[in-house]
Amino acid sequence: MNYKNILVEKNKNVATIIINRPKKLNALNKETITELHNAFAEVENDENIRVVILTGSEDKAFVAGADISEFADFDVNQGAELSKKGQEILFDFIENLSIPVIAAINGFALGGGLELAMACHFRVASDNAKMGLPEVSLGVIPGYGGTQRLPQLVGKGKAMEMIMTAGMISARDAQNSGLINHLVTQDKLIPLCEKLAKKISYNSSTAIAAAITAVNANFKEGVDGYQVEIEQFGNCFGTEDFEEGTTAFLEKRKANF
Ligand code: COA
Repeated sequence: MNYKNILVEKNKNVATIIINRPKKLNALNKETITELHNAFAEVENDENIRVVILTGSEDKAFVAGADISEFADFDVNQGAELSKKGQEILFDFIENLSIPVIAAINGFALGGGLELAMACHFRVASDNAKMGLPEVSLGVIPGYGGTQRLPQLVGKGKAMEMIMTAGMISARDAQNSGLINHLVTQDKLIPLCEKLAKKISYNSSTAIAAAITAVNANFKEGVDGYQVEIEQFGNCFGTEDFEEGTTAFLEKRKANF
């Protein structure tokens, strides 16, 4: 598929999706959000793809937020709709994708940009990255899941401080807070994500999909995560991957999923 605001590169079983509006620091306008939805749906349906890396083009920004110019004149209903639709088609969509998504944070990840990174399954950042949720400085609050996912990752107190001050934190602070898993120099960012993607791709993709469902269940209102784990665990026993994985172990060879 051809996209205007993003690039999709596929190399063996890893897809890299690059948000490509560098003149606007990769800000998420409506069209980019729709294109990202389509690209994630495309890679999820591509049976060769086992891991996705999401990053921003050039070296200044991952994503500097939702495109402020698009919503500056919105009313109450349009504001609610913006948040609801964005959460549905992109942020929740990524979080619940059946294949792992790694955010490679290569610069500013602000507002919707940090929310996008937080919707990914885990995050790696380069040392020039700066992260924050500056929405209250614009008279609004995070609307793409930021008030929910930031406390999950860094704890309530740190999240409150970040949201209330609207400030940016360094990549080092983000690592110390558990917001990112790894911190590397800019030149090592994509190579490290690719190394992690390769390691993931050796494992069972059906088991990984089940693990994503079970882990996410812990954060869903009214859902018993332990029950979901029992169901997903049981389902694994009916898969070819389980047969191959256990047989390979007993035959003292590497599993070929
Ligand atoms: N929405 C729309 N446009 C944005 C944007 C956003 N979230 N973030 C950056 N841009 C645009 C700027 O308007 C500018 O466009 P222009 O050249 O046509 O004027 C371009 O990207 C470059 O940004 P600029 O502000 O000139 O870069 P800078 O290096 O001086 O500052 C930031 C970088 C990230 C500190 C600054 O761009 C910023 O504060 N952005 C908004 C962050 C934000 O509040 N995000 C949350 C949105 S809900």
